[in-house]
Amino acid sequence: MTKPVILTGDRTTGPLHIGHFAGSLRNRLRFQDSHEQFLLLADTQALTDNAHDPDKVRRSVIEVALDYLAIGIDPAKTTICLQSGLPALAELSMLYLNFVTVSRLERNPTIKDEIRARGFGRDIPAGFLCYPAAQAGDITAFKATVVPVGEDQTALIEQTNEIVRRINATAGKTILPEAQAVIPQFGRLPGVDGKAKMSKSSGNAIALSASPEAISAAVKAMFTDLTHLRIEDPGQVEGNVVFACLDAFDEDPATLEEMKAQYQRGGLGDGRIKRRLDDILQALIGPIRTRRAELAEDHAYVLDVIRSGTEKARSRTEVTKREVVEGLGLFVL
Ligand code: TRP
Repeated sequence: MTKPVILTGDRTTGPLHIGHFAGSLRNRLRFQDSHEQFLLLADTQALTDNAHDPDKVRRSVIEVALDYLAIGIDPAKTTICLQSGLPALAELSMLYLNFVTVSRLERNPTIKDEIRARGFGRDIPAGFLCYPAAQAGDITAFKATVVPVGEDQTALIEQTNEIVRRINATAGKTILPEAQAVIPQFGRLPGVDGKAKMSKSSGNAIALSASPEAISAAVKAMFTDLTHLRIEDPGQVEGNVVFACLDAFDEDPATLEEMKAQYQRGGLGDGRIKRRLDDILQALIGPIRTRRAELAEDHAYVLDVIRSGTEKARSRTEVTKREVVEGLGLFVL
């Protein structure tokens, strides 16, 4: 039996952090056995809002690949590939742009939110506005039917499926499958500073490569509850970043529930919950950091993983491109 195809990936804008691990990375470790999994190092998509810093986008390709390998992504099971090395993705998205309207792109809720968050105002890079069509190119090129993305990206999958239906209708037959978004059970981690989202660009993240000292410093600085001044004071669990992280990583839910109850009643200090989280994060990140440092020494191996993954993905995606071009009835030389 053939396994369902999964495509997912990350923009290469910096090393990954524990927010990625909580939401998506650990699911990928499971998917690599149950699915045929492709992981996209999305460097051209990273450029849609980082055109001012292509250097960062390039350097981050290796950083993200190192993170993947260090957490246990196995290149024998999962294909790690580079977006800019797969011309079929770009070619498909150019075709798809003729099947979507500018107003539909502007109405895409993911795009609307991100335009606001990035403060583009009227100066939206055209590539950014069009990236839903690019992501449709990515997903369909692999004929992925399962796409694990954050809650905030489901509108991209909807738009992908609209494009798929239009292409299939124009071709008069089913060339491309529709994809299903899979939302991770554990959503986004808040930032260390209490902001809604942990992200490298906001400087409120704990990297998977963080040193022991950096982990402790971040946990110490973590936003808890401004009204919880003395240990005896009742404290808030909601909006408390330490508890959000414990929810994500503590493997003893019974003890965690007891701690939450005690915190809410009063009598449990921030120091205690932070110490627990510090221990958990040190145990989680320690082996990843060690493995990552070893892999970073072996540049040739990491390059080879990306190169051979990209080659495998290239043959696959070229086939799809040809099917779409032929299906639409375009001239084929
Ligand atoms: N948009 C994803 C992110 O922001 C990266 C990505 C690019 C992706 N192409 C994809 C995810 C295709 C799933 C499927 O990290």
